[in-house]
Amino acid sequence: MRTVNHVAALRAQVAQWRDDGEQVALVPTMGNLHAGHLALVERARQIAERTVVSVFVNPFQFVPGEDYEAYPRTPDADRIKLSEAGVDVLFMPTVDELYERGFEATTRVQVPALDGILCGASRPGHFTGVATVVTKLFNIVGPDYAVFGDKDFQQLLVIRRLVEDLCIPVDVVAVATVRERDGLALSSRNVYLTTEERITAPRLYLTVKEVADRLRDGPSAAPLAELVQQARARLESNGFRADYVTIRRAADLGEPDPADTELVVLAAAWLGRARLIDHIEVTRG
Ligand code: PAJ
Repeated sequence: MRTVNHVAALRAQVAQWRDDGEQVALVPTMGNLHAGHLALVERARQIAERTVVSVFVNPFQFVPGEDYEAYPRTPDADRIKLSEAGVDVLFMPTVDELYERGFEATTRVQVPALDGILCGASRPGHFTGVATVVTKLFNIVGPDYAVFGDKDFQQLLVIRRLVEDLCIPVDVVAVATVRERDGLALSSRNVYLTTEERITAPRLYLTVKEVADRLRDGPSAAPLAELVQQARARLESNGFRADYVTIRRAADLGEPDPADTELVVLAAAWLGRARLIDHIEVTRG
């Protein structure tokens, strides 16, 4: 596996692959890699001859006061994992390489319909930072495929939308959430959990699952507002500080009409220092 730090060197490598008629899949990450990230890499390797993984802790997507400085950085361990997983190129740019003028001054990509709701409401500007860096990575690599986790459901919709709106010729591929045995979604931020919080953490998934199961019951289910309210109370009584628990249309995260059948239950909650998110898609009966 080759490690590349500069845009020009990466472009040259990709151009060479293209000359040989090879397709390229990109897996964008912020590092501190776990089995969830490696599932994306595995998928990338199945769909294209060449795989590029980027590891870049993107300052633009951290809201002031968030954990940009503290975000876990494990470049040596990441390099070993990616090399063992058969990745061709690890792209690890510096902040200056991607934001020559500083990210505050850079041209930005915003997806207005999805930017200010749910996680975007509690993390203002976060999705603009994500959309901007992902667009830059698409323009740098020019991949045929880009692989993302379904775990970050709103992020995945933001990326699908920007690809559509900006006519970027890339196929966005989603991979299902990889979980611990007790249901907790793998996340780099799980390292913030204390031993005690780690025991409580799967309750977020279990609570979302309970709402999803009841929703699936169809017309006999309680009104949506009631389901959500009960779930929120359950989280709070388990020691979470709930940010949101909500039921939305899966396609665009809009408020569902009674006729909508493709729904998603989403929740975000703080447990100590960690902000955890989870969701389950449901077809209402
Ligand atoms: P990061 O949190 O490192 O996640 C990188 C990719 O891994 C994302 O597509 C995310 O959805 C996926 N992922 C994380 N945990 C997963 C799990 N448990 N199962 C399956 N996939 C999982 O998301 C980001 O970085 C950044 O916002 C990024 C897109 C790289 C832009 O900076």
